[in-house]
Amino acid sequence: MKVLKTSAVVWLALGLAACGSDPGSTQQPAIPVGTAGTAPDPTGFDGPRLLSQTGLYSDTAARSLAPGVIPYEPLGQLWADGAAKQRWVSLPAGTLIDSSNMDAWRYPSGTKVWKEFALDGIPIETRLIEKLPDGQWRMVSYAWNAERTEAHAVPLGVVNAAGTAHDIPDTEACKQCHEGVPDRVLGFTAVQLSRAGSGMTMDRLIAEGKLTKPPAAPIQLPGDATAQAALAYLHANCGHCHRPDRKRADREISVHFWQEVGALADVESTATYTSLVKNKTSALWLDSVLTRMQKRGGIQQMPPLASKQVDAAGVATVTAWLNQIRADLPPSPRLAPVAPSARCAGVEQVFAIFERAACRSAFCHGAGTGELDFTTPEQLHSSMVGVRASGEGCSDLPLPRVQPGDPEHSLLLIKLRPGPPCGKIMPPAAIQALTAADVQTVSDWILRCTP
Ligand code: HEC
Ligand code: HEC
Repeated sequence: MKVLKTSAVVWLALGLAACGSDPGSTQQPAIPVGTAGTAPDPTGFDGPRLLSQTGLYSDTAARSLAPGVIPYEPLGQLWADGAAKQRWVSLPAGTLIDSSNMDAWRYPSGTKVWKEFALDGIPIETRLIEKLPDGQWRMVSYAWNAERTEAHAVPLGVVNAAGTAHDIPDTEACKQCHEGVPDRVLGFTAVQLSRAGSGMTMDRLIAEGKLTKPPAAPIQLPGDATAQAALAYLHANCGHCHRPDRKRADREISVHFWQEVGALADVESTATYTSLVKNKTSALWLDSVLTRMQKRGGIQQMPPLASKQVDAAGVATVTAWLNQIRADLPPSPRLAPVAPSARCAGVEQVFAIFERAACRSAFCHGAGTGELDFTTPEQLHSSMVGVRASGEGCSDLPLPRVQPGDPEHSLLLIKLRPGPPCGKIMPPAAIQALTAADVQTVSDWILRCTP
């Protein structure tokens, strides 16, 4: 319970509540869903209450798949704290996937995709997303009974399902990830199905004539095996939030992990390389990817939900590739010694900008929140110039808040721009941004300052 409470607080603190609602409801006990299937569900869930009613199996206890249900495996897979997963798809006979936009397929009504989570060979939950006749998606998980003969819909999720450390997310949490893409499906996509193997693949969809418009050429992630593995991992684990078209993404994030078919010619063309290397002034964001992947709990954890354990193999996969591209960037900034007498003239101008942006309000830096005190220009100066950052996440690196003469290596400036490597953009994404001229003033102030 404790872990979940923390993550719910974190979620709200992330300011993500606006792209879904509070997943805190996962903390509530699952409402036992009757097998009779007649009484209305207090959660408003109106779908099939039993897995056996969803069309996955012809015999649920024997776990024999129903006709037309095909297994598949996506190229990159979401880490789920070591749970083993199986996935199946059912596309209604005679229907086509609208693939006119290869990066955002539209699935026919009646499409169903299931994903099972098992621990030590024992199935814990089977999730279903289903496109209804009106084009809406229904998302819910089914928790398996102890006998493993049937699974029951648990729209409120289950904490420590079947006595394990695994939590089944509630339907609101499903949305927080799945509503990141236009038609909800995250892994049964062009990039993810373009792989060899059995079950449903891109080649098989084409051969069976299931796409309105097959791709002009085979789709392949670029680079050597190291790059391909890392790009696939980041796509599956991070891409559904780290995409430029996500709500508020233009202020919250600056690193993009969702791969688009038109940007796969070489590693340098990918959205990930562009946002991590080409658009950055130092390797700070590479460090941030790795430190955040290794955090659990707290506001820096990535992904921010649905995982309590670090994926050591995933970290190794991503580290191997980031080490290859690290040489393409200047090193991360480090605080260089600054004489205690150093003065950055013109701090009043910067103070006035922050004053206008209400940074001194009681909730922000008026009362020394984040160990910053913006009560007077003098206090602003002394809490910034030549001082090492100590906020959550940023304190891992010896980062200067203001390195006199070097704005690009000063966290103060970095945090005024979208997608800082640690902590939040300032002022927070929910509050109006500073103007470009304001940011320039701050940058000029740091640049003019001589140590
Ligand atoms: C942390 C983000 C996250 C949450 C929360 C989440 N999912 Fe997913 N889900 C994913 C990702 C990413 C994939 C694709 C990669 C994979 O299959 O490993 C996926 C895949 C699936 C699939 C296979 C079809 C597809 O979209 O690729 C189903 C079914 C599914 N999820 C159902 C659910 C349901 C139901 C819930 C809530 C009970 C839920 N998911 C919660 C991220 C999430
Ligand atoms: C459920 C949505 C979600 C998922 C999944 C997710 N992130 Fe994030 N990430 C965010 C948000 C929102 C921010 C900005 C706010 C913050 O820093 O907390 C962020 C910020 C970051 C940053 C700081 C730079 C930037 O772009 O803002 C890095 C680096 C990062 N995430 C890496 C990752 C990695 C690596 C993964 C996958 C292993 C991942 N994230 C998965 C939502 C997500």
